[in-house]
Amino acid sequence: MASLEHAGTALFLKRWLRRPFAMGAVVPSGPLLARAMAETTQRCLEGRLGHVIELGAGTGEVTKALLAAGIPTQRLALIERDPVLAGFLRQNFRGPHIIEGDAAHLPGLMVANGIERIAAVVSSLPLLSLPGDVVNEIVSAVFEALPAGAAMIQFTYGTKPPVPKTLRDRLALKATHGKRIWRNVPPAVVWTFRKPAAT
Ligand SMILES: C[S@@+](CC[C@H](N)C(=O)[O-])C[C@H]1O[C@@H](n2cnc3c(N)ncnc32)[C@H](O)[C@@H]1O
Repeated sequence: MASLEHAGTALFLKRWLRRPFAMGAVVPSGPLLARAMAETTQRCLEGRLGHVIELGAGTGEVTKALLAAGIPTQRLALIERDPVLAGFLRQNFRGPHIIEGDAAHLPGLMVANGIERIAAVVSSLPLLSLPGDVVNEIVSAVFEALPAGAAMIQFTYGTKPPVPKTLRDRLALKATHGKRIWRNVPPAVVWTFRKPAAT
């Protein structure tokens, strides 16, 4: 396991050198942050049926935590745009559906991969380092695919919500957040975004 983690961290750094803005962080998420993402995801499921979609799975740190938190492997689908990282995920995770693709095309990727229903989206995409139009496309695609009331869980290192206010207003999203995880490097906060179900 230690050598797998080492291989993952080395590969992550190599891919960061190639595309720093698409990777966001220099190293994978730490275990406390990954656990907080997974526990928040579990809490948000509230008995919903369907897949848990992980966006930007990288070398699988959050994936491991989602599995450890009890998300069944056959309910998990990982979307990773970088072909080398998607290959790494395929080699190291047996069971989750691993999709090489762009999160901005989520509804089309679901159709192409036979995924009918989503229970939650958990994202470690580096929204703060991506251009505004790309963030618009990705978050709009997520809420086109998610049923009303279901959550998108997203961490950030920043002080503001990782989905900008104009976009939250346009999509009528409600945002909530957990405590800052000071022992992650850098310290991070897990946010939850939902489009409330119609009453
Ligand atoms: C900050 S890393 C997170 C990796 C891992 N989940 C973690 O927490 O350690 C962001 C990941 O998102 C991927 N990525 C960036 N833009 C993407 C997009 N539009 N669609 C899918 N994956 C993307 C990158 O290749 C990278 O693996």
